[in-house]
Amino acid sequence: MEHLVNPLVKDVQISGIRKFYNMVADIEGTISLTIGQPDFPTPMHIKEAAKQAIDQDHTVYTHNAGYLELREAASEYVWDKYKLSYDPANEVIVTSGASEGIDITFRTILTPGNEVILPGPVYPGYEPIIKMCGATPVYADTTQNGFRLTADIIEKYITDQTRCIVLPYPSNPTGVTLSADELQDIAELVRGKDIFILADEIYSELVFDQEHVSIATFLKEQTIVLNGLSKSHSMTGWRIGLLFAPLAISKHILKVHQYNVTCAASISQKAALAALTAGKEDAIPMKEEYARRREYVYSRLQSMKLDIVKPDGAFYFFIKLPEGYPSSLEFCLSLVKQEKVAVVPGDAFSPLGEGYFRLSYAYSMDTLEKALDRIETFLA
Ligand SMILES: Cc1ncc(COP(=O)(O)O)c(C=O)c1O
Repeated sequence: MEHLVNPLVKDVQISGIRKFYNMVADIEGTISLTIGQPDFPTPMHIKEAAKQAIDQDHTVYTHNAGYLELREAASEYVWDKYKLSYDPANEVIVTSGASEGIDITFRTILTPGNEVILPGPVYPGYEPIIKMCGATPVYADTTQNGFRLTADIIEKYITDQTRCIVLPYPSNPTGVTLSADELQDIAELVRGKDIFILADEIYSELVFDQEHVSIATFLKEQTIVLNGLSKSHSMTGWRIGLLFAPLAISKHILKVHQYNVTCAASISQKAALAALTAGKEDAIPMKEEYARRREYVYSRLQSMKLDIVKPDGAFYFFIKLPEGYPSSLEFCLSLVKQEKVAVVPGDAFSPLGEGYFRLSYAYSMDTLEKALDRIETFLA
């Protein structure tokens, strides 16, 4: 029966991150710097709130968009932190992770033949959904611009078919983010055009030396903002994402969400409520630790004479391969075979990531130190 499977689904490839992870999983003694997941436990008060929710029988369907109280807390949270103004009754949807937010947004706004501009290299979670909508991902080359997608670059890729631009900043895999001025330039370029912005701001709480700014502060009418608790509160497994969009868009996204998952898990929603109220500042100690690690990793990589852009946020370095390696995959395979350190080949992040590798520093200092010693030996 396989020949009857939707060809758009058949064409979808398993994520390059997962592929590489599977390839090296059996090599004993390997230190992995591959995972994009915080290495802190979920804060205790959030776990307690979830336990209480179970005891109090919050075990039934919620409103499709999520508990109103949670949407109110989410709305207040993004207002306090980023000066974003969304009506909790109509403009906020609690999703099953930011991943579901990506899916339901694209399925709401794309039709076959549309084009979506993404910065390349980029997180691999967008392309399959775009393609399953019959649309085309168009990768804008940011490699000559310190991985920053600016209005000037975007302009070269806009066609009559462009329906959406993805702005995933701070970025996975590069860690860079855009300044308020750069975002404002993009807003001016796109304003009034039939183009949506999908602003994936899942790393917004992990920006080190500046304030996070959302493009929605300049262009709310055309923007869908995705955020969530996976990275800020170390809650990847709880599957809570937050989607913010003006009513004219959100009311349609809500239908796709409703027929997709009905609602996000009720217990996780109660945990999320604790995170967004009592836990508003939970990300700070984690961010401080990531910042310390960033400095350490940066100085080690610099002393190895590697070509790097210092990240502004998230917890990744995206590093150019040293001379002499034919591909990212070969470099990463040699590194894991010779020195038992796993990093992710750059081509997992679109073809524009070829020639690079991603190192995650969501690992303890001890692990980072050992892994960097091994990388140093390998390069020597
Ligand atoms: C840029 C980006 N967006 C979305 C996601 C998915 O987040 P969630 O776990 O909330 O589905 C990730 C996860 O790594 C990510 O890096």
